Amino acid sequence: MKVLMLNGSAKPQGNTYRALYEVGEQLKKEGIDYEIFQIGAAPLRDCIGCGQCTEKGCVFDDDKVNEFVAKAKEADGLVFGTPVYYAHPSGRVQSFLDRVFYSSGRAFAFKPGASVAVARRGGTSASFDVMNKYFGISQMPVAGSTYWNLVHGRVPGEAELDAEGMQTMRNLAKNLAWMLKCFEAGKAAGVALPDTERGNQTNFIR
Ligand SMILES: Cc1cc2nc3c(=O)[nH]c(=O)nc-3n(C[C@H](O)[C@H](O)[C@H](O)COP(=O)(O)O)c2cc1C
Repeated sequence: MKVLMLNGSAKPQGNTYRALYEVGEQLKKEGIDYEIFQIGAAPLRDCIGCGQCTEKGCVFDDDKVNEFVAKAKEADGLVFGTPVYYAHPSGRVQSFLDRVFYSSGRAFAFKPGASVAVARRGGTSASFDVMNKYFGISQMPVAGSTYWNLVHGRVPGEAELDAEGMQTMRNLAKNLAWMLKCFEAGKAAGVALPDTERGNQTNFIR
């Protein structure tokens, strides 16, 4: 089994990476593979709501969104990490995930997910809330930990000094691994996926 993580910081080895690395190394100890996908620093489009998403994902193919979607479809679980900018997830990560989920969110149903917010000091829990909303609307069970998934640090590498933050990452990984194994065991025992009801989509005015 494999967990795909998104480093939503343009810094490939910053604090968000460090937090995700802690999750990944613990996953490995639990027998689960992982990959940290770098969002990178190249220009990144936001969603323009064109509604032209296809089976292959977003119509815009000049950044990494569709590459990520292809990997996410293959993964068994997803973890999204974001640096906190002005008390919200970075604009970069929100633009990226809006397009990932608007084009392909249904493909991730029943895969467990978790998000991680990393900041110098403030805005972590607000950012964590925003990130978790992608899971809730996509039928994705959310893995928890022994605290909300928050890590503190300013300059790259400082996250490692946040002892409770690192512990929270390791416990998140243990819980996520446990969920993945339970789902696998359920599948092997013949537990069917829920039969999703669709059809009602009301826009409050009719
Ligand atoms: C534009 C910008 C806005 C930021 N806003 C916040 C903030 O609201 N709260 C905070 O505690 N840290 C804030 N920071 C600091 C980063 O969240 C912090 O340095 C974090 O460790 C960066 O993660 P990274 O190394 O993965 O990029 C901000 C940094 C930048 C560049």
